[in-house]
Amino acid sequence: MNPDELKRQAAARALEDVKSGMKLGLGTGSTAKHFVELLGARVRDGLEVIGVPTSEATRNDAIRCGIRLTTLDEVDRLDLTVDGADEVDGALNLIKGGGGALLREKIVAAASDRMTVIADETKWVETLGRFPLPVEVIPFGLGATRRAIETAFAACGVSGQLVLRTAKDGHVFVTDGGHWIVDAHLGRISDAPHLARSLGLIPGVVEHGLFIGLASKAILAGSQGIRVVERP
Ligand code: A5P
Repeated sequence: MNPDELKRQAAARALEDVKSGMKLGLGTGSTAKHFVELLGARVRDGLEVIGVPTSEATRNDAIRCGIRLTTLDEVDRLDLTVDGADEVDGALNLIKGGGGALLREKIVAAASDRMTVIADETKWVETLGRFPLPVEVIPFGLGATRRAIETAFAACGVSGQLVLRTAKDGHVFVTDGGHWIVDAHLGRISDAPHLARSLGLIPGVVEHGLFIGLASKAILAGSQGIRVVERP
């Protein structure tokens, strides 16, 4: 089965948890896009939900699919966020931000009672870090911020190249919030919660792609079927 079909299967399973009246966080990426499309079909059949998109791309997809949207200024808590991930470990800690939407994704996940991660099984890892860790930074003072990030890495026992992300056209990739992203090629992050705390203290770092303790459920679709992992 091709990876895209697996992503759609994971998205379809997540939809089973959605009930009328729910306020939903809508994730970003190719897997979350399947969820938005499937949700849109249910909305057209009469399901009543309202969503907060985690990116401009998802906002456009949701509007196209007829999903009613709101903001975190208009509602206080969301019932459920459904989003993809670049890596998921056994504690349901994640690396996210491959698509560059990590800041809004984390704000929305943190404002949700539950977060379900949907992915194909290749995203399941024993230890986070093979996927480059996205770190969203302010362009001003980037040199100083990079050095502070490297110092934090050393204190957390990790190291690796920091690469400023570029867009397909070769220019610097700019996030929906107007920031830049440096991708940290670490290979293995032995203590992700420690690294997350350290990165969070650096002036110039807006957010990073380590999602610690936010996901409550992972739905992983593989050729042998769907596996659901829940955090106790
Ligand atoms: C977007 O910024 C990311 O966090 C995505 O959720 C993540 O990269 C997964 O994307 P795919 O579903 O496209 O693999």
